[in-house]
Amino acid sequence: MTALERVLPLLDRPPAEPDVSRGYLDLLGEEARQHDTMAQRLMRSGFLPKIYEDVWRPVMFGLSKGPLGPSVEEEYALARDWLDLAAVPDGTVLDVACGPGNITRALAAGMTGHGLVVGIDASSTMLDRAVAETARPSPRGENGAADAAYVRGDAADLPFRDEAFDAVCCFGGLYLFDDPWAAVDDITRVLRPGGRAVFLTTRRPELPLIGTGSAVLGRLTGIRMFGTDDLCHALRGRGFTALRQRTYGLMQFVGGTRS
Ligand SMILES: C[S@@+](CC[C@H](N)C(=O)[O-])C[C@H]1O[C@@H](n2cnc3c(N)ncnc32)[C@H](O)[C@@H]1O
Repeated sequence: MTALERVLPLLDRPPAEPDVSRGYLDLLGEEARQHDTMAQRLMRSGFLPKIYEDVWRPVMFGLSKGPLGPSVEEEYALARDWLDLAAVPDGTVLDVACGPGNITRALAAGMTGHGLVVGIDASSTMLDRAVAETARPSPRGENGAADAAYVRGDAADLPFRDEAFDAVCCFGGLYLFDDPWAAVDDITRVLRPGGRAVFLTTRRPELPLIGTGSAVLGRLTGIRMFGTDDLCHALRGRGFTALRQRTYGLMQFVGGTRS
């Protein structure tokens, strides 16, 4: 069974004729976009996916996390650890807003059994890149036994069955979504009880001038700046327990277990 064939039983309404012509399962087609921001247009461009993993992410996330923030490798390790992937070697993991599949591949490499990591993103150019990169042997020799497969879909309307996943990761996505709380609702829905979720998103500094400045800049570019407690509060309200949080500069990692 191919990695994409393994995705079909996880869908809540599998299409009669799945469009996998570009190497990922396309569930959006030519769907109209409701709210277009500068940041979203950039994500859909042909240019950004080419430089995203090697240049854009290290520079932009590095600046946002600040000098004390974790390296990219440490982020991967944090995601694997907070999701407790060691406990689900053959499990199903969802990577929401997977972009070019950088986190998807890192999660798959962290699974020792024949698990499945599904990356979902709305941008076809990002997913083209994800498919191409996943087909190449990893330069770090990180080809785990787990499969990685990609779906084009909306994070706020996840096309998966209730409780389909053992773990869900959402790094660098929440602040771009029109309705991040609808996405958190859906992540909760597709996660099985006892499963873990981990997020990396923005954090509005408490200092009044910098806080307001970053919120205004964010609004102009289409990046939402979350308060330090917003996401923890939202997860607690949706029944998550064992919450953990680390803040670095303008970013925060938040994780928890679905009850
Ligand atoms: C900054 S990239 C994050 C990539 C990767 N997760 C990481 O941490 O490096 C954000 C991604 O979110 C995707 N995205 C934005 N809005 C989305 C939505 N409503 N549904 C699915 N993906 C979305 C964009 O297409 C983009 O690929």
